[in-house]
Amino acid sequence: MRTSPLGAFFVSIVLAGCGGATSQSTTASTGTDTTGSADTTTSSGSTSADPRFPAPERPWAELDREERAHHMSRHVTPAMSELFEAYDAERFGSFGCANCHGADARERHYAMPSPSLPVLYPTGSIGQHRAVAQYPEGVRFMYTQVTPAMRQLLGAPEFDESTHGGFTCFACHTRAADDDPLSQPE
Ligand code: HEC
Ligand code: HEC
Repeated sequence: MRTSPLGAFFVSIVLAGCGGATSQSTTASTGTDTTGSADTTTSSGSTSADPRFPAPERPWAELDREERAHHMSRHVTPAMSELFEAYDAERFGSFGCANCHGADARERHYAMPSPSLPVLYPTGSIGQHRAVAQYPEGVRFMYTQVTPAMRQLLGAPEFDESTHGGFTCFACHTRAADDDPLSQPE
C-alpha cells in the first residue's frame, strides 16, 4: 500500500543500470549554456533553483486552469522539450503537451497522471524490476532529469521518505493496482 519511494528506484538504477552504460552524458545543457557551475546544489535538498525550471510565481495549487495552462506552455513544455530532445532527438523531436498528457489530453481535461504513459509498479515488485531492466537508460533519465525538473517547474516539494509526501514518478505515470500480478514483490 505504499507509494513507491524515489530512493528505492535509485537503488534499482544503481544495481541494474551501471553495467552497460554507454554514453554518460549526464549534464545535457545543450542549448541554454548557463553560467558554468555544473551541479553545485544537488545535495542538501530544499531550494536548489535551476533557472531552466522556474516555478510558478504563485503556488500551483492556487492557480486557476488558465494560469496552469499558461505555465505549461510558457515554461514546462519548452524546458522539458529541451531535456527530451537532448535525450533522444529522433524520438522526441516534436515534443509537446501530448507526450505527457496523451493524445486525448483535451477530452481528459489535462488530468494527471496520464493513462498514455507506461504504468509503473511499486518498489521492489516484479514489474518495477522489469521496467528498470527493460529501460535502464530511460529510467535513469526519468530519475535524474525529468522528475527533478518537473518538481521544480511545479514548485513541488521533494519526495520525503518519512511522510511519503512530495513529488514522485506518479505525478505523471499511473500506479499499477496492488492486485496486479506484477505488483507482487520479486
Ligand atoms: C513534461 C510533462 C508535461 C508537459 C509537456 C505538459 N504538461 Fe501539463 N501537466 C503536467 C503535470 C505533471 C501536471 C500535473 C500537475 C499537478 O497538478 O500535480 C500537469 C497539469 C496540467 C494542467 C492542470 C490540470 C489540472 O487538473 O489542474 C493543465 C491545464 C495542463 N497541464 C496543460 C498543459 C498544456 C496545454 C500543455 C502543452 C502546452 C502541457 N500541459 C504540457 C505535465 C506536463
Ligand atoms: C513529468 C512527467 C514524468 C515524470 C515525473 C516521470 N515520467 Fe517517465 N515518462 C514520461 C514521458 C513523457 C515518457 C515518454 C513517453 C513517450 O514514449 O512518449 C516517459 C517514459 C517512461 C518510461 C519508458 C521509457 C521508454 O524508453 O519508453 C519509463 C520506464 C518511465 N518513464 C519511468 C519513470 C520513472 C521510474 C519515473 C520516476 C523516477 C518517471 N518515469 C517519472 C513522463 C514522466
